[in-house]
Amino acid sequence: MSKVVTLQEFIMEKQADFPFASGELSRLLYDIVFASKVVSRDVRKAGLVDHILGAQGNTNVQGEEQQKLDVVADEQFIHVFKNGAEVCGIASEENDDCVIFDDEKGRNGKYVVLFDPLDGSSNIDVNVSIGTIFSIYRRKSEVGTVAVEEDFLQPGHEQVAAGYVLYGSSTMLVYTTGRGVNGFTLDPSIGEFCLSHPNMKMPEIGRIYAMNEGNIHICNPGIKKYVEYCQSDENQTGKPYSGRYIGSLVADFHRNLIKGGIYIYPATTNDPNGKLRLMYECNPLAFIAEQAGGLASTGFERILSVQPEKLHQRVPYFVGSKLMVEKALSLLEKE
Ligand code: AHG
Ligand code: MN
Ligand code: MN
Ligand code: MN
Repeated sequence: MSKVVTLQEFIMEKQADFPFASGELSRLLYDIVFASKVVSRDVRKAGLVDHILGAQGNTNVQGEEQQKLDVVADEQFIHVFKNGAEVCGIASEENDDCVIFDDEKGRNGKYVVLFDPLDGSSNIDVNVSIGTIFSIYRRKSEVGTVAVEEDFLQPGHEQVAAGYVLYGSSTMLVYTTGRGVNGFTLDPSIGEFCLSHPNMKMPEIGRIYAMNEGNIHICNPGIKKYVEYCQSDENQTGKPYSGRYIGSLVADFHRNLIKGGIYIYPATTNDPNGKLRLMYECNPLAFIAEQAGGLASTGFERILSVQPEKLHQRVPYFVGSKLMVEKALSLLEKE
């Protein structure tokens, strides 16, 4: 029987590669692991307890109806970040503004975390995969002071770590610190994430495209051309690709990371900047995609190069296997 490597051991081993580092990033990752286990437990109870399923009765800053689990997950992650000593502030999809931790611990925290506490809200009540996405930056302002908004508005190439937790048929945590991508599966019987997908690589090309095709007539004609290309047998694989759209970005992304594929959420006439949020969704998954050999673009610019102007900024999103994203972009250019 081969040795099982737990996520805690893995983080500790990586930490040993940097003997002069303070270990704060490792501690922050442990905090995320802990919160993920708690949220995973809550997700598994949905349907049995009242406070988890259904609408919260509020609209969030995105203009979306908040679900109870959006709030449960948001509060859980904020709780661990506030109680750890590594984070000076957070921003999340569910909060209007960034939340600054201005107590002594917070002022001394080196990092900011931006996250989507619950991705795929519309799938909560129908027992379909959902997730959490996170992005970590080193603050720009001086340690010891109160964090400022500029600490959050950094381009994605400045991320020091990013990852996601997928509450699927099993719970998985996938993350990168810029040295490849590794995936861990939660063994609920021992309560540990165990290394199950070491050194993940996204195939250069796959046979899956994921897009909400309900929007096909309200986006750039180049998108329609690309979708027709996916559906034809003239494409890079010689037969039509399969269309797969879960409606939880994190789950669509995870499948494409493993099998190869492309995910598209373009600009539409209703949403001229697309729907997905740069800071909570696009940047962290772009960092993982690139680390696994894939690509992520707005259609015109590398996602990780976009200089954010505001926290809740939206961008069109093309992410996935390198050759597929390149092909989609080449058809866009012609329009
Ligand atoms: P969230 O649940 O965090 O608000 O994100 C929803 C996002 C993303 O997960 C998904 O891919 C997309 O919205 C689905 O949008 P459409 O329903 O417009 O296809
Ligand atoms: Mn939402
Ligand atoms: Mn989301
Ligand atoms: Mn969300």
